[in-house]
Amino acid sequence: HSASSFKILIPEPLSEEGLTLLQSSSHEVTYHPKTTPDTLASLLPSYHALIIRSETKVTSAILSPDVSPNLRVIARAGVGVDNIDVEAATKRGIIVVNSPHGNIAAAAEHTLALLLALARNIGRADTGMKQGRWERSKLVGVEVGGKTLGIIGLGKVGMKVARMATGLGMKVLGLDPYASPEIARSAGVKLVGGGKDGKGGLEELLKAVDFLTVHTPLLASTADMIGEKELKLMKNTARVLNVARGGVYNEGALLKALEEGWIAGAGIDVYTQEPVKFDVEESTAARLARHPKVVATPHLGASTVEAQENVSIDVCTQVLEILKGGMPTAA
Ligand code: MLT
Repeated sequence: HSASSFKILIPEPLSEEGLTLLQSSSHEVTYHPKTTPDTLASLLPSYHALIIRSETKVTSAILSPDVSPNLRVIARAGVGVDNIDVEAATKRGIIVVNSPHGNIAAAAEHTLALLLALARNIGRADTGMKQGRWERSKLVGVEVGGKTLGIIGLGKVGMKVARMATGLGMKVLGLDPYASPEIARSAGVKLVGGGKDGKGGLEELLKAVDFLTVHTPLLASTADMIGEKELKLMKNTARVLNVARGGVYNEGALLKALEEGWIAGAGIDVYTQEPVKFDVEESTAARLARHPKVVATPHLGASTVEAQENVSIDVCTQVLEILKGGMPTAA
């Protein structure tokens, strides 16, 4: 194959800025933003590069040599690579790249949006108004200033949320076995725990907070990290947020916690099942999304014009470099 022309498949929406970069290269670009999993498998054999967002699942079946014999690079226009079987890709020498910077502000701002929406019942108030109800006395909120926010995971998003929350006058507790105490302190965060497993710290944090937010990837060590036992430790006035990954909170436990009043509310952007299916028999994810104590959004954390431009340019630049035989620029 000529080194200057490869085939690039984009089966999900991607901002124009990156697409333009690809289209002005010598490569052949197929932009099919609504590709179903079946079509993906039938298209892939002739492609060298695949650029995806959250919806495409790059499983070991997709990565088998008969489905994707020519694949050299998979690029994720976002930070998480949990929808890619990285091990299977690596075994075949397929490079996996992501875009870990472009989304940070968007994810942090969405977290703050859900925090304030939860505190002031914005979702229910708006639904009421749309349906012609003036529910002023029913929807008394709480203030966030002076309250304690717990942040689990002090990476780039967690730290940004911390700075914004201190700006709102919140006290911030953080839990992250890898966080530097100096950097945390400089952002106004008090680290809890200290042990490498962070276990003691978790209990201390859960008991203390009025709001809890998680900013970890979904890993074996973070899956179901917040379950029944953890939710029961929290104040019954506490509210929780998830703009990270569905499954960090156990969804069944979260639903039970809301129904039985162990906590007061939840702001949820991510689910174990995406897209959440509202038809047929309702999943726990759908029941959470519909729950009156929940402010729900459909995985919008990274969905800003700015973030989508950033990640689009970033992944497309990396793909072009890799196809040139060079190394990717970002980690
Ligand atoms: C991310 O991992 O950065 C986001 O989930 C990206 C997305 O919204 O697809």
